[in-house]
Amino acid sequence: MAKKLHIQTYGCQMNVYDSERIAEVLAPLGYVLSDTSEDADMVILNTCHIREKAAEKVYSKLGRLRKQKEKKEQTGGRMILGVTGCVAQAEGSEVLRRAPYVDMVFGPQTYHRLPEMVAKASRANGHVLDTDFPEDNKFDSLPKTRTAEGATAYLSIQEGCDKFCTYCVVPYTRGAEYSRPTAQVLDEARALIKAGVSEITLLGQNVNAYHGENEDGSTCTLADLVRKVATLDGLDRIRYLTSYPAEMTDDLILAHAEVTELMPYLHLPIQAGSDQVLKAMNRQHTVAEYKLIVEKLRKAVPGIALSSDFIVGFPGETDADFEETMALVEEMRFIQAYSFKYSSRPGTPAALLESQDLYRVPEALKAERLARLQALLNANTLAFNKQAVGQTYPVLLDRTGKTPGMLVGRSPYMQAVVVKAEDHLLNTLQNVLITEAGPNSLNGELVETLHRALA
Ligand code: SAH
Ligand code: SF4
Ligand code: F3S
Repeated sequence: MAKKLHIQTYGCQMNVYDSERIAEVLAPLGYVLSDTSEDADMVILNTCHIREKAAEKVYSKLGRLRKQKEKKEQTGGRMILGVTGCVAQAEGSEVLRRAPYVDMVFGPQTYHRLPEMVAKASRANGHVLDTDFPEDNKFDSLPKTRTAEGATAYLSIQEGCDKFCTYCVVPYTRGAEYSRPTAQVLDEARALIKAGVSEITLLGQNVNAYHGENEDGSTCTLADLVRKVATLDGLDRIRYLTSYPAEMTDDLILAHAEVTELMPYLHLPIQAGSDQVLKAMNRQHTVAEYKLIVEKLRKAVPGIALSSDFIVGFPGETDADFEETMALVEEMRFIQAYSFKYSSRPGTPAALLESQDLYRVPEALKAERLARLQALLNANTLAFNKQAVGQTYPVLLDRTGKTPGMLVGRSPYMQAVVVKAEDHLLNTLQNVLITEAGPNSLNGELVETLHRALA
């Protein structure tokens, strides 16, 4: 009989990918995904450790799940509770101490061993703790076939980070940079296309640092890989996330100009607009170097859109530093951005600075800076959305809308576009005339059938 599996995913796209793979690993054991944790036979929290709030969320969620688990036990059933992701990796034994009713704690690098962990957890009342960085690579053991929900999918090609930005936990939770072999990536891309995917987003914590091994032993860069992926039949769109500015090579910029499948949109986090702050963050680029990359990109692909990430209130950030961030945002016109107040993470170098009054930016000032920055970023997003009105965009319709008869898709620039369209157009690429724009989405009308149906 099918067992119900509920996976709740927090954090970044890499976690989304991992959750999908976890479901694929558990499917042969009879687990079928369920939208709710209510009455589930297994619940897995795939967690994020990036900011304090993100990590704390997990414990409150576990408190609520405990009640559901007890209820299930009272009726003679069993709910296996698992915690994975970056909180599990960073503080595995702490999870078991604070939530001893959790059955399995495992890191992002060990979920290929889930069948053994589940067997152990089902037998005894003992806990399983597996937060190794194992010798056997998970990617070598994961199922070769892929399932896909719709036309768009993530594909992790690179994991881990060697950059050690002073505020960041990722190098500790995900380990050293690792690139999957090129042939393995291409096989998985083919498996996704076979499962109905026409847009692939290549993922990595430092995706543009990708240096996979080709079958002849030579090195494959991200630019090379994008070119190879673009030759696969049935694929319309390629994206990649997240890039580190200092790893943006001229060859990758050239690929943007040459590979038509590569979308004219790039997420390129800068974090701050002041060289002094970037240095304290151990970012290996200056503001001028970042601007030069953007200049080259805009030359290679006129109209390329950029998005970014920002941290405000990094220890030691002065008013003048922050004004430089505002000036940079004013100049760069990011179409979208994530911005956060600096959050002190245990064990990171910046946490030592934050613990000293001299460096710490008061909470109220962090909040004020964040509000000002977000107002500017949001205004830029809205302006970019508004200039779309009257233009025709190719839109990959990959979801049904809230109201019947409507489909929702993504523009080349990742804007959500809502269109009146019949269900048979779901998961197809369509030309859409943009008629209205708001801060979070666009409305449009179908223009004509782009391809496929015409062909
Ligand atoms: N690898 C990516 C992003 C990783 S984390 C990169 O290098 O850009 C995603 C974002 O979270 C970061 O870009 C940063 O803006 C934010 N972030 C990371 N650590 C943080 C911290 N301690 N406090 C606040 N924001 C943080
Ligand atoms: Fe974190 Fe910096 Fe690595 Fe990004 S590049 S994951 S921000 S350490
Ligand atoms: Fe969070 Fe880990 Fe991703 S800390 S942002 S889930 S790599």
